[in-house]
Amino acid sequence: MFARLLLLCLLGISCVNCEYLFKKLCSDEDPHQCEVYNVILDPCEDGKNFCTINKLKHYTLSIDFLPKFSANKLNMSMLIDDKLTDTFDGEVKVPSDACEVLTCPVDAQTRRLFDVRFKLGKSIAVGKYPVKMKLFNSENEKQSCCFTFNVKIKK
Ligand SMILES: *[C@@H]1O[C@H](CO)[C@@H](O)[C@H](O)[C@H]1NC(C)=O
Repeated sequence: MFARLLLLCLLGISCVNCEYLFKKLCSDEDPHQCEVYNVILDPCEDGKNFCTINKLKHYTLSIDFLPKFSANKLNMSMLIDDKLTDTFDGEVKVPSDACEVLTCPVDAQTRRLFDVRFKLGKSIAVGKYPVKMKLFNSENEKQSCCFTFNVKIKK
């Protein structure tokens, strides 16, 4: 209880020019594998529905989640649906080792918090697109935490 309160306080304090994002669970992943609580994008000054992303700037996504599975190693990927075809074939971050940004192993039913820094590729056109963030057990990709959120890309 105390740890949870502390976590929420820390999140609250660190959010100045940032926003608690409006997010959706991924339709192609098992929603029972994970609980995603808060997702914060920093910086974001224009509201939780469509943060404006500048292609040249770095952003930090903070994710507060509870895996329902245990894993020795985790991978993560961040994809963008910049063709708006629901295929998410634009890569923001290729599947990579998530243990670099959060301590592994992860235990089932233990709430975790971690930050991912990213910058968009220059090739993405100006527009509004969904981004998909997926964290998964390296040994079993079906065990995942996955959500999407919308961004507005500017030059
Ligand atoms: C997980 O990340 C590692 C390290 O980057 C990579 O070698 C491996 O191919 C990834 N696994 C999957 C299933 O994407």
